[in-house]
Amino acid sequence: MGTTTHRHRFAMEIVNQSDTPFYYYDMDVLHATLDEISRLTAGFPYKIHYAVKANGNPHILSEIKRCGIGVDLVSGGEIMAALKAGFTPHDMNFSGVGKSDWEIRLGLEHEIGCFNVESVPELDIIDHLASLMDKRANIAIRVNPDIDPHTHKNITTGTAENKFGIKIKDLEHIIHRAIHLPHIHLMGLHFHIGSQITSMQPYVLLCETINRLLDHYDSQGIHFEMINVGGGLGIDYHEPDTHAIPDFEGYFGTFKQHLHLRDNQQLHFELGRAIVGQCGTLFSRVVLVKENSKKFIVLDAGMNNLIRPALYEAYHEIQNLTSRETTNEVYDVVGPVCESTDVFAHDRRLPVTHRGDLIAIRSTGAYGESMASTYNMRPLAHSLFHSSK
Ligand code: LLP
Repeated sequence: MGTTTHRHRFAMEIVNQSDTPFYYYDMDVLHATLDEISRLTAGFPYKIHYAVKANGNPHILSEIKRCGIGVDLVSGGEIMAALKAGFTPHDMNFSGVGKSDWEIRLGLEHEIGCFNVESVPELDIIDHLASLMDKRANIAIRVNPDIDPHTHKNITTGTAENKFGIKIKDLEHIIHRAIHLPHIHLMGLHFHIGSQITSMQPYVLLCETINRLLDHYDSQGIHFEMINVGGGLGIDYHEPDTHAIPDFEGYFGTFKQHLHLRDNQQLHFELGRAIVGQCGTLFSRVVLVKENSKKFIVLDAGMNNLIRPALYEAYHEIQNLTSRETTNEVYDVVGPVCESTDVFAHDRRLPVTHRGDLIAIRSTGAYGESMASTYNMRPLAHSLFHSSK
């Protein structure tokens, strides 16, 4: 992963005054991340869209908006949230395998930048709805490149047995159909191979696939004004302080080196986790410590606040910020929800922990708050923002 000198420091005066559980966002980390992206993409025909599904908190959205990047959206709700945060429709992409009519109409009404289309039926529906509104929809075709990114099976999206995108062998047909539909403007091709990808190899394979497709369509005289390579860049869940900023150098460098963009062709990225993952921490207090055949730390945060460990067996660093004990103990760290999967960590070594200790669950800025629910009728966690400026 990339290196950074940023050292995470929580503003404890704010933290100590707040009722737990809550999400704490370090806006310095967010800004440093966004600055690194602009530094590495300046001077290239690159455009970044933030994948709002990672975190749609209005405050986060407006900070990201101020940095001048666009958004990748997957529902009508996200379109409305992005409009409210002040994003211009031109900077919006709308992805998703099953867009409802009202969501498509909302996108058409605002003349959003691009619909990422995942099937022939969807293409025809968009053309039809656009004709009724006397509009022309900008679209990209989502290609399923059949590349395995070697991440968790539940967050792999670009392999052949997946529901997403169009197989390469069916691409020719949909492209020619799109070109001839009167209410469709075909802008380009869209790809997304998966999430939490930390090796650059799958991206090299993606570039090679795209190069082959571009050569093929060049020979037919078909030019794409835009190529969208999706998102997926991973973060370091094990060392959130030493690697607060993801390996953007390796990531953008891979596309700079391996993808042969044509003249007048823009490259779009849709990053979610890499932008917001490390700025967020879920704070919780220990309700009690109990012992069965194992020792359990029971928190006041549960899987309704952060579902990633239960859903993907995801690892998050867990820190006891208040224990003064000098010895460690091995614990299962669990929530209060009535489900045996409500476990944040199995067999985690932590300082001896007591009731009332303050616990930080790190790297939860992405897919934490945005996947929260009120299961067990538990209230949603509130959020706090800290910026040193
Ligand atoms: N573009 C498309 C079409 C996507 O489906 C996704 C994520 C992204 C961009 C952004 O991917 P990112 O850069 O954040 O990896 N809830 C899971 C992750 C699901 C990702 C879904 N698609 C998790 O907590 O790990």
